[in-house]
Amino acid sequence: MTPNGLFISFEGIDGAGKSTHIDGLAQAFRAQGRAVTTTREPGGTPLAEKLRALVLNDPMDAMTEALLVFAARRDHLKQLIEPALAHGEVVLCDRFTDASFAYQGAGRGFELELLSVLEQMVQAIPGNQAGLIRQPDLTIWFDLPADIAARRLTMTRAPDKFEAQPLDFFARVASGYLQRLRAQPERFTRIDADSTRETVWSQVVQAIQNRGWLK
Ligand code: TYD
Repeated sequence: MTPNGLFISFEGIDGAGKSTHIDGLAQAFRAQGRAVTTTREPGGTPLAEKLRALVLNDPMDAMTEALLVFAARRDHLKQLIEPALAHGEVVLCDRFTDASFAYQGAGRGFELELLSVLEQMVQAIPGNQAGLIRQPDLTIWFDLPADIAARRLTMTRAPDKFEAQPLDFFARVASGYLQRLRAQPERFTRIDADSTRETVWSQVVQAIQNRGWLK
């Protein structure tokens, strides 16, 4: 765990329903006296939000996309995440690097080894001799079958570039998340997101309580 702060990321395919639970958790932590920063990727800083607009709207090859999401991540870490953690805050981040492995890697077929190189470069912790990189203390993965997520999405808004992808793209993205969970099981909690909002919420709270971070 981060010495002072707490870094939690939220992942899942589009339509998995992370957002309301991130807001709920922010309230729960604040109610127990913690300072909370909620943020998102790509984005979270003025520069990274500009990169987000490009990534979500402009057609580009998978390598360009990977470089842009990691460039956004670099700025986000330096300007917002690391300073907040250093102040002892709880940082709740809607998506982080697992999304790059799932979307650019598993979804678009960009080399996972190159994503790992970018991950090591961008998430290096200055002065850390052991070569440890910044990772979330916990990643909550909202696991939902791709067809159900797609049905949920058609009921909401106009799709962005990713949301407009066919079903098999999201099936690959979901398998990319599963691969990340299997590689680092201690960092992940899998939530069964094919359920009512209340049931999903109680799973989310349970995951945090199990780690002793909420009473
Ligand atoms: P999303 O988090 O779903 O936000 P919103 O709810 O506002 O649509 O949108 C972010 C999109 O960006 C999502 O489709 C996943 C994609 N993405 C990547 O492809 N790579 C990444 O590294 C990240 C962080 C996100």
